[in-house]
Amino acid sequence: MSRWTEALACALALVAVDAAAFDRFPGVGRAATPAEIAAWDIDVRPDFLGLPKGGGSAARGQDIWDAKCAACHGTFGESNRVFPPLVGGTTTAGMASGRVENLKRPDYPHRTTMMKVPTVSTLFDYIRRAMPWDAPKSLTVDEVYAVLAYMLNLADVVPEGFVLDDRSIRQVQARMPNREGMTTGHALWFGAGFGKPPPADTANTACMTDCREPATPVSTIPASAKGSYGDLARQHRGIGPVRGVETPP
Ligand code: HEC
Repeated sequence: MSRWTEALACALALVAVDAAAFDRFPGVGRAATPAEIAAWDIDVRPDFLGLPKGGGSAARGQDIWDAKCAACHGTFGESNRVFPPLVGGTTTAGMASGRVENLKRPDYPHRTTMMKVPTVSTLFDYIRRAMPWDAPKSLTVDEVYAVLAYMLNLADVVPEGFVLDDRSIRQVQARMPNREGMTTGHALWFGAGFGKPPPADTANTACMTDCREPATPVSTIPASAKGSYGDLARQHRGIGPVRGVETPP
């Protein structure tokens, strides 16, 4: 390791590095404070490691949903044209088997979040870190539980009076409609109109010498989803290398 890469590695290894390491490279970075680490360290794993204590009812969640989510995701999570549909497409039979049958139908109009996501922890984590889109991290932990309880109720995964908390969420996992449907065997997009699925990037090995020409980033979408969200080329901002494909409705 050169002195520079070593210095860079120290600066980047935010969590693992202790303060003493920075004394060797005066002026390059500083140890993250416990408060800074706590603010970043909010991931919730599928085995629920990292799940904060708290809870909220589906009834309270409905108020939060109507005030802070419905404008983009629709009153029933069906989305309002440009935003991702969250709820729909799952069945009671699917809940028993843990596999969503509609995912296999190329003619099915939408692939909603509840159809795809295998782990309830992912929903908790994502809502807590990223939603509402226009004010991420503005919800309290209890509000995240409540609004997720309401989403799960909209999808018939839990009953109306359900209270989701750091214990009951474990039972919910056993009812997630696509809990057995996760695969790392191929990349995300495939299906009718999109040809053979490419291998998953989880299977890549890093190339260090004599590598291929770098790939050109493109924007693409399977035929089944074209037109679902209006013209993507017009929605993407003009920054970064990738433009949205033209998908006139
Ligand atoms: C201003 C519009 C807007 C609001 C308000 C909003 N969302 Fe979203 N939501 C989005 C967009 C856009 C995405 C897709 C973001 C992306 O893929 O990067 C998204 C994605 C999601 C997803 C993940 C969907 C998936 O399949 O990947 C969930 C879950 C979600 N929102 C829940 C919520 C909840 C709960 C609220 C209210 C607390 C909320 N959203 C409020 C725009 C919004």
